[in-house]
Amino acid sequence: MPIGQVTRGTTGTNRLRRIDRWIAQLPALRRATDPLVVDLGYGASATTTLELHSRLARVRPDVEVVGIEIEPSRVSLAAQSARPGVSFSLGGFEVPLPAGRTATVIRALNVLRQYDEASVTDAWRLMISRLQPGGVLVEGTCNEVGRVASWVDATAAGPACFTVSLRLADLTAPSVVAERLPKVLIHRNVPGERIHRYLADLDRQWQVHAPLGVYGPSQRWVAVASALREAGWPVLGGRARWRLGELTVAWEAVAPEGFEW
Ligand SMILES: C[S@@+](CC[C@H](N)C(=O)[O-])C[C@H]1O[C@@H](n2cnc3c(N)ncnc32)[C@H](O)[C@@H]1O
Repeated sequence: MPIGQVTRGTTGTNRLRRIDRWIAQLPALRRATDPLVVDLGYGASATTTLELHSRLARVRPDVEVVGIEIEPSRVSLAAQSARPGVSFSLGGFEVPLPAGRTATVIRALNVLRQYDEASVTDAWRLMISRLQPGGVLVEGTCNEVGRVASWVDATAAGPACFTVSLRLADLTAPSVVAERLPKVLIHRNVPGERIHRYLADLDRQWQVHAPLGVYGPSQRWVAVASALREAGWPVLGGRARWRLGELTVAWEAVAPEGFEW
């Protein structure tokens, strides 16, 4: 029996473009000897799995993407869209793959959202056990149109970093992401938790740098990222990522109180 539960299959064209873009630059994909990527819980249609393949193929023409879904009729439907480099199969967090193979990246977007917080680490562990050495699990949430997104990268060593990715053009406050945090964090956005302090600091810096908006929202976001780094947040990456409306910090900066791996 596949491990997990069937949940709503909501998905949409272009919804996961920010996550595709993130995965496309991961060293785990770029350097993989067997570039096998899993899209776990692709939902009611094959759309996001096909998009993931076409975006990753630009940087790894030999990439192979396997869409895995726990709901059988969604697998039958998606299988009609299979093509060279893209296949679909039934499964859950145990991530069934062809004999002897493991994944270099597993993407699970908008999957754990409908689970209990307590089930997150077990699901992570199971998925991570199906990764190649150096492989990455990308687990997170986004809104319906993909303009507000956040995710955690986790490896065999545990969660590594947390990324927020926002469309900056009409952004009022970065904390809009509060409604689209990964399950492990969404209930922790309360005083006393690191993620709460982080989002508050993001909002504050976004306000402080409002005057830079005249040069465009990307300039304003770059200034926010630099200010957070100067304030001591373990900000990863640099301007090239920030200009996209992304900001990544080491996991320790936002880990829930009492979180253990
Ligand atoms: C909300 S949809 C997300 C679709 C797509 N990933 C997206 O973000 O647009 C969640 C899907 O995950 C599937 N799902 C939930 N738990 C799963 C599991 N353990 N293994 C595989 N699929 C799962 C559900 O059946 C559902 O179709």
